Amino acid sequence: MTGRSVVITGANSGIGKETAVVLARRGASVTIAVRSPERGSAALADIRLRSGSDDVQMVALDLGDLSSVRRCAADLLDRLERIDVLINNAGIITEERRVTVDGFEEMFGVNHLGHFLLTDLLTERLVASAPARVVVVSSLAHRFAPRGMRFDDLQSNGSFTMFGAYGRSKLANAMHALELSRRLEGTGVTVNCLHPGTVASGFARDGDARRLGELISRVGHLVMTTPEKGARTSVLLATSSDPSIAGVTGGYFSRGRQWRPSRAARNPRAAARLWDESARLVGSYDDLTQRAL
Ligand SMILES: NC(=O)c1ccc[n+]([C@@H]2O[C@H](COP(=O)([O-])OP(=O)(O)OC[C@H]3O[C@@H](n4cnc5c(N)ncnc54)[C@H](OP(=O)(O)O)[C@@H]3O)[C@@H](O)[C@H]2O)c1
Repeated sequence: MTGRSVVITGANSGIGKETAVVLARRGASVTIAVRSPERGSAALADIRLRSGSDDVQMVALDLGDLSSVRRCAADLLDRLERIDVLINNAGIITEERRVTVDGFEEMFGVNHLGHFLLTDLLTERLVASAPARVVVVSSLAHRFAPRGMRFDDLQSNGSFTMFGAYGRSKLANAMHALELSRRLEGTGVTVNCLHPGTVASGFARDGDARRLGELISRVGHLVMTTPEKGARTSVLLATSSDPSIAGVTGGYFSRGRQWRPSRAARNPRAAARLWDESARLVGSYDDLTQRAL
């Protein structure tokens, strides 16, 4: 990965941090995009120490605030001449229905819309850096939405359950990857998504999903893997030159190989519709979105 520039969102803990350690160790120039400057600074020091690389930087990013997403993209475009790999890793699960600064249901807003806008604003740089890769950390939980996106209620105003809304936000990740891969065909930028496994990370344990966090603390060790192992598929998709990885776009991966995601995640018409709705919601019909139409 020497000479390659990698951006990872939510890399101050869990899977993202371990992904950053491995990629920095392999010589990549790594930029972590983090919400909390305090946790980010501690993570930065730890990533540098464990990877033995000083070529790790930090930028501020709150995916729940579109003005922060725009500032982060501008900052990245200013600092990084090239972006070879973008890893959309950050994610949350919340027990209660909460809203972002911009008024979106928080899981849909953070997990999907924030990443949608960030990716859109960085796409031109990714294309200019081709061959390049976008890696989207989705989840097996995309299957919690077997009937697909609720286009009549994307913000879960009508009814809200933690797993339902989380599942739809992770389905949105997979649909975003599918539609982006179609739009970027022929550019040399591949887009794939993944399920990292069931990973003992900070996920659901920071008070956002108290009961789930308690359950994980009690029995999680029986079924969960480590963040190091959870990072493996992200690392593989970011680095592998094997044609079964490097030659694939629009795929869904887990445990190091490609799988078939749910029917809803494979529906190109729904993915295109979600793209249009998302572009409308984030107010971004600029950049590649418009040109690719
Ligand atoms: N753990 C699992 O079993 C599992 C399974 C399937 C999929 N996933 C997915 O894996 C990804 C990584 O999760 P993880 O397990 O590593 O959990 P984690 O340790 O909680 O890491 C999540 C990261 O996302 C960041 N984040 C949350 N909200 C943000 C925001 N508004 N703006 C910017 N960053 C934000 C967090 O930053 P803060 O420190 O500021 O909160 C944290 O660094 C997520 O997308 C998750 O959905 C996890």
